[in-house]
Amino acid sequence: MPKVRDRWAIANWKMNLLPSQTAGYLERLRARLQETQVSVAVCPPYPHLPAATAAAAGSRIRIGAQNLSDRLQGAFTGEVSAAMLQDVGVSLVLVGHSERRRLFGEDDALVAAKMRVALEHGLCPVVCVGEGLQERKVGQTQLWLQHQLQPLWEVAQAFPQAPWLIAYEPIWAIGTGEAATPSIAQETIAFIRVQAEQHLGDIAATLSILYGGSVDPGNASPLALQPAIDGFLVGGASLNPEAFAAIAEALGAAEA
Ligand code: PGA
Repeated sequence: MPKVRDRWAIANWKMNLLPSQTAGYLERLRARLQETQVSVAVCPPYPHLPAATAAAAGSRIRIGAQNLSDRLQGAFTGEVSAAMLQDVGVSLVLVGHSERRRLFGEDDALVAAKMRVALEHGLCPVVCVGEGLQERKVGQTQLWLQHQLQPLWEVAQAFPQAPWLIAYEPIWAIGTGEAATPSIAQETIAFIRVQAEQHLGDIAATLSILYGGSVDPGNASPLALQPAIDGFLVGGASLNPEAFAAIAEALGAAEA
């Protein structure tokens, strides 16, 4: 069967590790990734990015940022623009992570604006969506996701050729050590795919949808075997390059 969608392992360091630890991490990751063919990206904090792009040069590891500004340039103290990210060799960017939404007040409109700016600058946005425990408990997961996804379809329709990814990250599974069960992840991502097909038509076939939330080397294989799951966005377990490589290998093995 021809491979339609890329499978991705993406590391989200969040606010961890130091710039001086970046090159060593990438060296260890490169050494371990010889075997697997899945697409791999690492998203360290902003100050680490130049060291990361230098250390990943000549490898197939792509470097991503964890956020970007919706503004292009000017008097926006503390913000980082898409052009700056591109200039240091970044090719991906996380957008709308639940920690940005919940802790830093990013709403659906801002998330969509950031996605648009990323696409305009040739960066591949990895847009995060996911319900909280409350929504899941009261049976409103699908409604919640439809609401979060709606503005994203509108942006994606304006950039039909540009690659982007969705990461489904249920908030109750992030950083808790309790990943979604393979069947919950499968069922919810399959729902997102149906939505993508309805809004994007044929181009939805190339849109990879990742799962994130407490993925580790122990649970990666059963999750990777689910047909709807095209990869993982990994937080805590990605801080160790060998553990992250093992997760990428599990994805590769599931595809083989
Ligand atoms: P976690 O984080 O793997 O530590 O649960 C995932 C994420 O927030 O992207």
